[in-house]
Amino acid sequence: MKALILSGGKGTRLRPITHTSAKQLVPVANKPILFYTIEAVVAAGVREVGIVVGDTHQEIRDSCGDGSRWGCRITYIQQDAPLGLAHAVKIAEDFIAGEPFVMYLGDNLIRDGIINLAEEFEREKPNAQILLAHVPNPTEFGVAELEGNRVVRLVEKPKEPKTDLALVGVYMFDRTVFEAVNSIKPSWRGELEITDAIQYLVDTGRTVHSHIIGGWWKDTGKREDMLEANRLMLEDLEPSLGGQIDDASVIHGRVVVGDGSEIVRSTIRGPVIIGANCKITDAYIGPFTSINDNAVVTNSEIEHSIILEDCCIENLEARMEDSLLGRNVRVCRDDSKPRAYRFMLGESSDVSVL
Ligand code: TTP
Repeated sequence: MKALILSGGKGTRLRPITHTSAKQLVPVANKPILFYTIEAVVAAGVREVGIVVGDTHQEIRDSCGDGSRWGCRITYIQQDAPLGLAHAVKIAEDFIAGEPFVMYLGDNLIRDGIINLAEEFEREKPNAQILLAHVPNPTEFGVAELEGNRVVRLVEKPKEPKTDLALVGVYMFDRTVFEAVNSIKPSWRGELEITDAIQYLVDTGRTVHSHIIGGWWKDTGKREDMLEANRLMLEDLEPSLGGQIDDASVIHGRVVVGDGSEIVRSTIRGPVIIGANCKITDAYIGPFTSINDNAVVTNSEIEHSIILEDCCIENLEARMEDSLLGRNVRVCRDDSKPRAYRFMLGESSDVSVL
C-alpha cells in the first residue's frame, strides 16, 4: 500500500500563521503535525509516501526531506492551485500507479493511528474505505449515511443531517477512485470534492466500507482545533527534564524541558513541553502549553498555548491563554510614555487586550 498525504491547500482559517508557513508544519507538542501523519502511515507498513504540496512546498521539502528519517521514500507532487481533495488525488495518478493507497489529510491527527484500518482494508478489499466519527455538530462536516457498514450517501455540510457521522480525513482507495476523480465536475466552490468522488463510487455499484473510530481525531484547520490537538497530545506526554532548573523553581506533573534550557525562579505546571535553549525566568507556565526552541519568557504567565521558535514574551500584566504565536514573535510590556498599545501585525492577525 502507498500513502498520499495532502499538504497543499490555502490554510485561510489559520492566517496569519499560514501567510508565511505551511499549516501542516505547525507543531503540536513541539512536533509538526505532518510528522505524526508520516509516522502513522509508516507504522501501517507504507514505504512509498507521496506528499501533495502547494505554495509552501519548499518549507515542506526542507522539513521532511527524502523520508529516510522515517524509513520511507517521499515523492513530492506539486499541485499548482488548491482545486480540491479529489484534484489532489487526480494529479497523483502516476505516483500511485494502480496500487491501493491511503489518503491522509496532512492537517489531521488521529490518536490511535491507522494500523488496524489498513489491515481491515487489505483483508476485505473494498474499492474504498472511509473513516467516520460521531460528532456533536454534523452540519459542519461531510456526513455519511450507512446501511450496515456500507456507505449509501455522503452529504457535504448538510443543513438537516440524517446521522452524526462525520468524515475523518483518512480514506483508503483502490484504483477505481481514478475513474471517479476523472468523471466528477467541480462543485459550486470550484473544487473537485472527495465526497463527490466517493458518491460516484457508490452510485456506480462499487463497495465503499466505513469504519467508525473510537479514539479522538482532530482536524487542525483553526486555532481552537490546533490548541485542542496540542492539549490532547500533551495528555500523553512522557516527562523528561533536561537543561538547568534552579532550586527556586517548582515543577508539577508531566513536564519536558529540552537541552540547554534554563528555568529560573519559575513554576511549571504540566503537562507542558519546553524545547531546547529556552530561558524561562520569574514565570508561570501552566497546563497544555508547548513552547518551542529558543524562547525567552520573563516575568509572565502562559497557559494553554502554542509558542513557536524564537519568541520573546516579557513582563505581561495578565496571563496569556489560548494563544498561538508564530515564529520570532515578541509580546512585551513597555512602560515608556506616552502609554499606548504599539502593534506591528500582519494581515489577519488577531489580538485581544484587557
Ligand atoms: P482544508 O483544510 O479543507 O483546506 P485548506 O488547507 O485550503 O484550509 P482553509 O479551508 O482554512 O483555507 O484541506 C485539508 C488538507 O488538504 C490540508 O492539509 C490541505 C490539503 N489540501 C490540498 O493538499 N489540496 C487541496 O486542493 C485542498 C483543498 C486541500
